Amino acid sequence: MESRRNFLKKTGGFTAAMCSGIGLSALLQSCTTIKNVDVKYANKKLSVAKLDLGEEGITILRNDKLSAGVYLIQHDEGYAAYLMLCTHKNCELQPTGTFMTCPCHGSEFSNKGEVLTGPATEPLHQFKVTEDDTHVYVWLD
Ligand code: FES
Repeated sequence: MESRRNFLKKTGGFTAAMCSGIGLSALLQSCTTIKNVDVKYANKKLSVAKLDLGEEGITILRNDKLSAGVYLIQHDEGYAAYLMLCTHKNCELQPTGTFMTCPCHGSEFSNKGEVLTGPATEPLHQFKVTEDDTHVYVWLD
């Protein structure tokens, strides 16, 4: 029998669930499909195959060793990765397309980890990212 999580991922319900709890205007602007990928952790880094990355340039990396997902985005200047943990009081952020929102007290962060709306005042933790021809590597501190 298929797990509920896998079913929701395949049907898009997972994305819809990530979009719940935000305002209608933000919902309309931001409910793009964001791919979640369970990734390997070895030698102090997460590794994800480029073929597994989301088509929109944003992928949420998941691993049991992490307290929250890692928001991996491809900017013009290359890949960047941010821990999706709010710097106000450590709630896990919800990716909403081009930014991330905190379900606890409403902080918003840009796709470059900058605070857009408080009460958070500190940017998101950013990880070093490297790549080769086939994979992207996110180096955990
Ligand atoms: S924990 Fe995110 S705004 Fe308070």
